[in-house]
Amino acid sequence: MGLKFIESKNLDLEIKRDNLYFEERLDTSSDWIEKRTGIKTRFFTELDTEEMTKKLVKNFKSDIENLDLIICASFSTKRRMPSLSSIARETIGANENVLCLDINLACAGFSAALILAEKYLEKGRKALIFACEKISDYMDFSDRSTAILFGDGAAGVIVEKNEKLFISDTKSLNHENTLNLYEGETITMEGKKVYRFAVEEVPKSLKKLMCESDLKPDEIDKIILHQANYRIINSVLKNLEIDEDKSFSNLDVYGNTSAATIPIVIAENFEKIKDGEILLMSGFGAGLSVVSILMEC
Ligand code: ACO
Repeated sequence: MGLKFIESKNLDLEIKRDNLYFEERLDTSSDWIEKRTGIKTRFFTELDTEEMTKKLVKNFKSDIENLDLIICASFSTKRRMPSLSSIARETIGANENVLCLDINLACAGFSAALILAEKYLEKGRKALIFACEKISDYMDFSDRSTAILFGDGAAGVIVEKNEKLFISDTKSLNHENTLNLYEGETITMEGKKVYRFAVEEVPKSLKKLMCESDLKPDEIDKIILHQANYRIINSVLKNLEIDEDKSFSNLDVYGNTSAATIPIVIAENFEKIKDGEILLMSGFGAGLSVVSILMEC
């Protein structure tokens, strides 16, 4: 049993910052940032996560009659309750019986939410799955090792349960304080450790799914990886022997928006993901977590 993407939307944000912005303020250079990460620009917003959520979900045009579930993936919302998913339900006027919940699995949150939806929904029923991250509230803009990486972002999909192929693989490893955020503080990260974890664990996870479904690299039509670093993306593609042109990426424009990277990629490439295509997806990050999906679109 699987999921079909019915609609996908991305929220446009108002403040665009290029690498020069950081070059002028920190001991870094545009060239270093682009060469080591692939990032050229990122967006920030003055909106809070509640306002971002309202603005995002108002963009959806789909019929919400069969909606049974709303999940928001976020680690960066300041308002602990009500959940952003409850605010989304109220905003779109969905049925009061819709189950609304927020989850936090950092950058792997969106793919985790898709797995929950696939398990929860009955055939023909729908879910709104979105991510809303205001990472700028938790960034130390004086720390060059993290400030250059992140952006704010929100995007989501409406999915409908069907009977197509959908398999997943999840892994949670010891975090060893590699990626942390405490209340009232800013994100700290040991970038090299996260990098190593990603290039080792993401291919393993995706190979497991390809093996389970007996699909070879040339039978994979599209691949969407969490947008953290283009060197991670290229290394995973090389390891899997999947052509670069099957990989959607917009890291250069948006930077790392945590749970929002995958739905932003989906929203921007929605028309290019065709019915019947085999899509690989993997979110990875704090946890340390890897959450991968192989699905027929
Ligand atoms: N500008 C210039 N120099 C820098 C910068 C910077 N912004 N940041 C680090 N450096 C320096 C370091 O100090 C170091 O200098 P040294 O050799 O004199 O000690 C050198 O550059 C190399 O530093 P590394 O940390 O080894 O740089 P690396 O090539 O590993 O790149 C990066 C750092 C981009 C952070 C990389 O490790 C990375 O992308 N890691 C993965 C991050 C990630 O995937 N996060 C996802 C999860 S996020 C989430 O879950 C919320």
